[in-house]
Amino acid sequence: MKQIKRKVWALIALVMILLGTLGTLPTQNSQAAVTDPTLTAIKKRGYMVLGVSADYPPYEFHKTITGQDKIVGFDISLARQVAKDIGVELRIKEMGFDSLLGSLKTGKVDMIVSAMTPTPEREKEVAFSKSYLTVAQKVVVRKGEENKYRSVMDFKGQKVGVQKQTTQETTAKDEMTDATVVSLEKVTDLILNLQQKKLSAVVVEAPVADAYVQQNPALTLANIKFTNSDYDCAVAVSKEAPAYLASVNKTITKVQKNGQFKEWRKEANAQMFSKQNFFQAYGSYFLKGTGITIVLTIIGVFFGSLLGTLLALMKRAKNKIVKGIAIVYIQYFRGTPLLVQVFMIYFGTQLLHLNVSAFVSAAVALSLNSGAYVSEVIRSGIESVAKGQTEAARSLGLSRKQAMRLVVLPQAVKTILPALGNEFISLLKESAIVSVIGVGELMFQTSVVQGSSFKPFLPLVITSLIYFVLTLLLSLLLKTFEKKLHAKDPLKKAAE
Ligand code: ARG
Repeated sequence: MKQIKRKVWALIALVMILLGTLGTLPTQNSQAAVTDPTLTAIKKRGYMVLGVSADYPPYEFHKTITGQDKIVGFDISLARQVAKDIGVELRIKEMGFDSLLGSLKTGKVDMIVSAMTPTPEREKEVAFSKSYLTVAQKVVVRKGEENKYRSVMDFKGQKVGVQKQTTQETTAKDEMTDATVVSLEKVTDLILNLQQKKLSAVVVEAPVADAYVQQNPALTLANIKFTNSDYDCAVAVSKEAPAYLASVNKTITKVQKNGQFKEWRKEANAQMFSKQNFFQAYGSYFLKGTGITIVLTIIGVFFGSLLGTLLALMKRAKNKIVKGIAIVYIQYFRGTPLLVQVFMIYFGTQLLHLNVSAFVSAAVALSLNSGAYVSEVIRSGIESVAKGQTEAARSLGLSRKQAMRLVVLPQAVKTILPALGNEFISLLKESAIVSVIGVGELMFQTSVVQGSSFKPFLPLVITSLIYFVLTLLLSLLLKTFEKKLHAKDPLKKAAE
């Protein structure tokens, strides 16, 4: 009896175990297949939006590749792999580090890969992947001052820069208690402030500190130890995306196992230090700028000459109103700065609800302005033609208009050519002013290069040379034109 009971119990136990395993098997399967709304949405739209603060070489930074501005770094490589493994395209959205969490929470971005450290506060808001890197905190100072700072206490009364809302901000505030901690949005600004002696030190993660120190001979590392030094870096996604997060984790595990991640780090370092030739990196900016400057000048010369001729004739008109208009126009455009005229046309057209582009506004302003100057040159030319010429032409039976067109103007053009040439040359130079409204001409491109190369002077030297060559070519062109006109001169020919 006892034996039967035991057997029954054993049987029941066996059945239960069997049922148990059968029961768990399908659940495990369905868990792996589970998707979540975020992942479904990403797959449906075919791309994933990465949020990044691209001021963090070698994690994420800007690099000019064949004349085009790109965001690169090992965080970007990792993000690309995550997207690839899910089977979608990656789109990059750049913003300040302090805007990343908000953007992820509001769904403006799908994922953050920005050397972000999982902290308890952040973990309340978003979900973090496993760590893909653990790094120490370093202090960057100006070369020669590294011996002044040996411990966190040596920063008493000094300004120490950190990136806004980062773990470095917390560390500096907690541990450098006597220092004034200054929080800025971009690491690039921190480094610039350090160089300009507006800050005494900057706290950043080791790979970034090393990167900036190696790029700037004027900077070095101070030997400072923090108690709270090692931070993890992880990928952040929405809290409601467990399947998406699982996919991110899978990619991280994979690229760490197969050595891919190490390769990306090497690649990022190489990209950072591949000393790109200045012209390779920025040559295209100057080329593009020069092209636009030339086009603007041609437009200005063409319409300016037409308008100038018209105004010169108007000024000689018998009709008082016509004459008055010309006088006021010329006086106004010669009597106010071109800079003001450019702004007035650009913003004035906006007020009239005419959506005129910056380029068109610039072309109009240059033409209107040049017209006023050209008209005065032409007027003086006309006046220089001896009165006898008109009288002779009229007595030969030509009308007033014909005499002007066939006899006076052709002679006037010849005498005014040098003055007209001067006007065109100054038009070419003055076109630099339109850079203020963002027309991509030479001067505008110069300031772009000044900003992204951190070189304030060299771009200016190059630009001045380009303007010099352009004006030189223009005056040579005018000279040959002048010569040709003179060669055709029948009076001169007769004299020879
Ligand atoms: N690891 C630090 C943090 O999470 C700093 C990260 C800064 N990242 C950046 N791309 N600027 O607070």
